Formats: sequence, C-alpha cells, structure tokens
Amino acid sequence: MKRPATIEPAKGKLAVLLPGLGAVATTFIAGVALARRNLAAPVGSLTQLATIRLGKRTERRSPKISDFVPLAQLDQLEFGAWDIFEDDALASAEHSHVLRPDHLEAVKDELRAIRPMRGVFYPEFVRRLHGTHVKRGSSKADMVAQLRQDIRTFMRERACDRAVAVWCGSTEVYTHANGVHASIVSFEEALAKSDPSITNSQMYAWALLKERVPFANGSPNLAVDFPAASELAREVRMPIAGKDFKTGQTLMKTIIAPGLKARMLGIHGWYSTNILGNRDGEVLDDPDSFRSKEVSKLSVLDNILQPQLHPELYGDLVHKVRIDYYPPRGDDKEGWDSIDLHGWLGYPMQMKINFLCRDSILAAPIVLDLVLFLDLARRAGLHGMQEWLSFYFKSPMHAPEVNAEHDLFIQHKKLKNTLRWVMGEEPLTHVGNEYYE
Ligand SMILES: NC(=O)c1ccc[n+]([C@@H]2O[C@H](COP(=O)([O-])OP(=O)(O)OC[C@H]3O[C@@H](n4cnc5c(N)ncnc54)[C@H](O)[C@@H]3O)[C@@H](O)[C@H]2O)c1
Repeated sequence: MKRPATIEPAKGKLAVLLPGLGAVATTFIAGVALARRNLAAPVGSLTQLATIRLGKRTERRSPKISDFVPLAQLDQLEFGAWDIFEDDALASAEHSHVLRPDHLEAVKDELRAIRPMRGVFYPEFVRRLHGTHVKRGSSKADMVAQLRQDIRTFMRERACDRAVAVWCGSTEVYTHANGVHASIVSFEEALAKSDPSITNSQMYAWALLKERVPFANGSPNLAVDFPAASELAREVRMPIAGKDFKTGQTLMKTIIAPGLKARMLGIHGWYSTNILGNRDGEVLDDPDSFRSKEVSKLSVLDNILQPQLHPELYGDLVHKVRIDYYPPRGDDKEGWDSIDLHGWLGYPMQMKINFLCRDSILAAPIVLDLVLFLDLARRAGLHGMQEWLSFYFKSPMHAPEVNAEHDLFIQHKKLKNTLRWVMGEEPLTHVGNEYYE
C-alpha cells in the first residue's frame, strides 16, 4: 500500500457505534465522559498518553501521539449502541459493577441518554442470553437492511460526519468460515436465504461496512475475519481490525513469553486459569462460546515461541487455558499462570503469576484507541485489514501468507512505525551506530 499523500482533517462529529452495550462498552463511554471533564485520567490509552520518538535520539523530539497525528478529539465523539436488552448505558453500567457510584453519578445524564437500538439476535449463537429487545425480520438480509437504516438515521439525527464501529457484544459459539463466506456474492446470496452459518456479529459488520463505517472486533467472533468481509472492506475502502481485545492474562502472556524467548529459556508447560463473574463469564460458561475464546487464547504462545525453530526449548510445550464462571467476583477477574521453564543445562524453574485485574478497565482504553486510530486510517485512505493494530488483539487478523505477530513489543514498534510512515517520518530501526562514528 502506498503512503497516504494527504490525511483528511478530523472535523465534525465522529459517531462511535457499538454493537453490545455491556461492561466494556459502558466503561469506555463513561471513561470518555469523565476524561472530557477532567474528572479522571484515560490511563492505558496510547492515543491520550503515549509519546512517539521522531528522528535521531540527539534531536530530542518526542511529541505526544495526539500532537503528532491528526486524531479526533474526545469531545467530537457521539455514542450509539445496539443491545438485546433495553437498559440504557447508565443501567447497564450499574449492572456491570465496574465503575464506582461516584464516577457514574458524575456522568449519569450522558449515560442515561444512550439508549440501545434493538439488536439483531439469533439466539443459537449466544445460548446463555435471552434477549428481549430484538429486531424482527423476514430474513438475515432484512436484518442487515434494518441495521443499515439504524446507522443512517443515527448519522442524520446526530449530524455526524463519519462513524467508526467496535464490536463490544458477547462472544458467540465457535464457528468456521465456509463457502458462504468466500466472496461478496456468495455472502449476499446466503443473507437472502438466511443461511444458518451467518452469525449475528457478521450481520452487523456487513451492515456497517456497507454504510462505509470502519469496524473493529473486540470479541473472538468471526465478525469480519472471513474472505468476503475483507473483499468488502477493500471494495468500500474501509479499514477493519480484530480480533478479541488483548487484556488480562493474554496481555501478560504476550509480555512475559517474548522475554523468556529472547533469553532462549525453555518452557515445558504453561497452565493458565481464570475466574470471572460478569456477563461475559456467564456467556463463556457455554462450552461452545468458550471454544471461540480458547482458540483465540491458545494461538498466542505457539506463535511467539516458534517451536518449529526451537524444538529443544518449546517442542514439548503443554499449554492449557481455563476460564471458570464464578459470580462473586463480578468484573474483578483473577488469573493464575503456572509456568514450568528450564534454563542452562536443562535445569527446571517455575514462575507463578497471580494477576488480579479488572477486565473492562483494561479493555476500555483499547476501545478508545481503536476508534481514534481506525478513524485516522480511514481519513488517510488505509483500507482492508490493519495489521498495525495487532497490538490491541489476542488473535490479530493478518494476510493469509504471513503468520500473526503476537509479541507485544514487535506489535508496539509496528504501531508506532506505521504512525511515523503515515506522517512521512522515518521509521525507527534502533540500529543507532551513527552515534559512535
Ligand atoms: N472485558 C475484557 O477485558 C474483554 C477482553 C477481550 C474480549 N472481550 C470481549 O468483549 C465483548 C464484550 O465484553 P463485556 O465484558 O462487555 O461483555 P458483556 O456481557 O458485559 O456485554 C456484552 C453485551 O453484548 C450484548 N449482546 C449480545 N449479543 C448481542 C447482539 N447480537 N446484538 C447486540 N448486543 C448483543 C449483551 O446483551 C451484553 O449487554 C465480549 O465478546 C468479550 O469476550 C472482553
């Protein structure tokens, strides 16, 4: 892809359309509302806090990313959502028990005003939920048409210039792409016939792309991760990214594993277990929904450790991932990792990690960054899969001929180098031998 010659300015209002108004979505929206009023800091967000080094170290140029690339401002964001329950964003946030009452109190009017549009819900894809606030339609094509109408109405009524969507809905049962998902033509024929292999998240993604809305997928669902969706994204020249927000245990794994690998330390086993008590945990209690998560979580280590290149270090690695739904914990997840590693001469060692994290607190800044970076990508004319946003995902989408890149540090360099490239600055190689000539 060629470097963008120009980037359209971030003028006017940016609609942020969220299928799924649960814990992550409301924590994100409330956080933006609080940050706008300087009542809390947007910790964890690169677009709000990170700096980027430009040029040589002797130049001492390290602006904030937000001063370097033309991003939309927080007060330009206008939130919309769909959900299969009627709760407005305040009720949903209260139900999620993530944010403190004083934080919700400070932004309650804004949250109360966000009422979800009726969702598209075929319950076979999320069997633990019994949604009542749902659309009725004659076919899946009709559902897509209704979603498209929702998008147009929202954009018109709120006078928005552009939109971006992030899937914050539930994890669906594990599905495979098949012939239906192979091309735009086959997918649209299948929509008209209500083909059973087309999932809820795929209908949203299709409607959003058709309305020229960039789409990021925060769940492991195959919302846009199939050939027809990539073809559509290229055709309408919209960026897409996914899948499954990289928070909690997988975030830790992609921080620790590259370090052990860099030092050529061996690993025999990595056992990970979690307890989680929010609605996401309840959905993942269904083994078929858990299967989607498991696939997304398991791919990470193989890819980072490359056992095919280092059979003596990682060839016999046993990697297990468990999630248990445990209601008393609510959104306060607890993860345990037990790592069996070995060093010099094969001598064994162990490492235990006990991470008491807050899932939605780690996910919310990811949603914000994806919104702002996808909008930037769109204004810069970048379209199709945005691999430089892999940093934010457990299961990064990638071109068929290359491996996914899971190492958080490589992903981080790729993200920053892409921003430098977009703005016409030299990417950094970190060779640095010019300082010693
Ligand atoms: N919290 C995290 O750290 C984290 C990390 C990685 C991925 N995720 C993924 O992000 C998503 C959201 O997580 P959460 O904790 O907010 O879950 P949640 O259960 O609180 O919220 C999901 C919302 O989606 C709604 N929903 C389900 N199907 C829908 C449909 N077809 N249309 C519209 N709405 C629908 C549900 O009613 C619910 O309100 C999940 O897929 C989860 O796996 C979350």
